[in-house]
Amino acid sequence: MTTKRPIRNLALIGFMGTGKSSVGRLVADLLHFTYLDTDHVIEARAGKTITQIFEQDTQQVFRNWEKKIVEELTLRDKTVISTGGGLPADQENLNSLKTHALVVCLWASAETIYERVRDHDHRPLLQDSDPLEKIRSLLTTRAPYYRQADVLVNAEIRSVREIATQVIHQFHMAQSAHR
Ligand code: S3P
Repeated sequence: MTTKRPIRNLALIGFMGTGKSSVGRLVADLLHFTYLDTDHVIEARAGKTITQIFEQDTQQVFRNWEKKIVEELTLRDKTVISTGGGLPADQENLNSLKTHALVVCLWASAETIYERVRDHDHRPLLQDSDPLEKIRSLLTTRAPYYRQADVLVNAEIRSVREIATQVIHQFHMAQSAHR
């Protein structure tokens, strides 16, 4: 746990397919917090899907959107924020999340992630001839960022409800420690 700081929100970070959205929605429900998914906000603002942003614009345009949303998040209160998998792989984004949220990382192995995402086609970064290798390589690059989370939760075998319960427990502990 890091030094004393305000914890008004809860941010879920982690690789694609680790369950940030399902866990985030349940946590928000149980805490009576607002749920916000950065990918959904970007799609609504841009008026196109993430795949279209990657294809018609560039990945950099998508990352610029993420930066803008991260800035706006500093104004939020009582919000569970589910972030896109690459959003915290930018030190400024990660630092910013930590100014107002408990940052929880959901972790799973490359093999488990692959099994979970292999039938999905809405993630442009995984439309690759060797998606498992792509996952491994992105995980290696991103691990140093994911490890900076306040709490690391193994999302490998537990159910969504078990993970949500654990996340809420950590959130309550952090809030009382920082009060
Ligand atoms: C990305 C993850 C996706 C989405 C975009 C890029 C990434 O979000 O933001 O496709 O760079 O890992 P999920 O982690 O919700 O799939």
